[in-house]
Amino acid sequence: MTGGAGFIGSSVCDFLVSKGNDVVALDNLSSGSRENIAQLAGSGRFTLTKGDCKSPSDVKKAIQGVDSVLHLSANPEVRLDRTSPEACFNENLLATKVVLEAAGRSRISHFVYASSSTVYGDAKLRPTHEDYSPLIPVSIYGAAKLGSEALVAGYSKVCGFASYILRLANVIGPRSGHGVVPDFVEKLKKDPKRLEILGDGTQTKSYLYIDDCVDAMLRVIGRTDGVAVYNVGSEDQANVMRIAGIVCHEMGIAPAYDLTGGVDGGRGWVGDVKQMLLDVRRLKSLGWAPRYSSEEAVRVTVRRILGKD
Ligand SMILES: NC(=O)c1ccc[n+]([C@@H]2O[C@H](COP(=O)([O-])OP(=O)(O)OC[C@H]3O[C@@H](n4cnc5c(N)ncnc54)[C@H](O)[C@@H]3O)[C@@H](O)[C@H]2O)c1
Repeated sequence: MTGGAGFIGSSVCDFLVSKGNDVVALDNLSSGSRENIAQLAGSGRFTLTKGDCKSPSDVKKAIQGVDSVLHLSANPEVRLDRTSPEACFNENLLATKVVLEAAGRSRISHFVYASSSTVYGDAKLRPTHEDYSPLIPVSIYGAAKLGSEALVAGYSKVCGFASYILRLANVIGPRSGHGVVPDFVEKLKKDPKRLEILGDGTQTKSYLYIDDCVDAMLRVIGRTDGVAVYNVGSEDQANVMRIAGIVCHEMGIAPAYDLTGGVDGGRGWVGDVKQMLLDVRRLKSLGWAPRYSSEEAVRVTVRRILGKD
């Protein structure tokens, strides 16, 4: 697995190891941490290979003898778009090409790719199904994810492994280091009297709890011989103001809200998608169902971050 020391990756590792699988995690620890995977150290089934997905030799070393590759490494920060488009390209698209090249040479059977709902851009149809078109991302991050999807499909056909492209909604949970929930908690810990909210507060999206995401990611393996695309999200949405309300309630505070107003019709930043809801019927046909709604996912995440549960 690439990105195995990250938020989602470490949770997938936890699950795989608990089910008796051997896991090799390739991670450069840029946004991931040893702390996320410390619990796996004594399992005898988990190896961390510190290295970079852009390095063919690092990937070749990590992939030896592996049957399935789960490619989760990325620079997940959509907001870096404007300041660092190279990081988006290198960490998301170039790294995917290097990993696919090694996967093709080492005769793996399955390739799981963590894509993103951002490939849909400002979709006119919601819930948005997997066959929706045209796919016009509104961020460089989304563009790099869409380009990576195409590479995954091409390498899959040419090299003969099955691939699973997962378009993830906003995934949240206690280990998450980025996104609206940890952002609000951190800001409020620093200043409980005032909460800066990016945008106009009406951005409305689907939030998925990490356990539901892990369940989805592993459930798809073996379901195709070719290329399969799945949306992964909850079946409802929460808006930013409501998320702020839940965070404040759980922290027992009532700060003044300071809305930035945002850009381009109230988006939090250039490239922010204002409305997102995924059609998850394809994933549900495999027997998957989210256990938490968007609001429940937010509440559970905040409570776990605060050590309440
Ligand atoms: N969290 C979400 O809401 C969300 C939504 C859609 C898609 N995704 C995708 O899911 C994947 C996992 O996201 P996450 O939230 O766990 O992020 P994360 O930052 O916690 O995890 C990414 C991991 O990849 C590692 N990494 C980054 N660049 C690397 C490189 N060049 N070589 C080796 N390791 C590298 C980081 O150290 C980190 O451990 C990413 O591909 C992300 O784009 C996440």
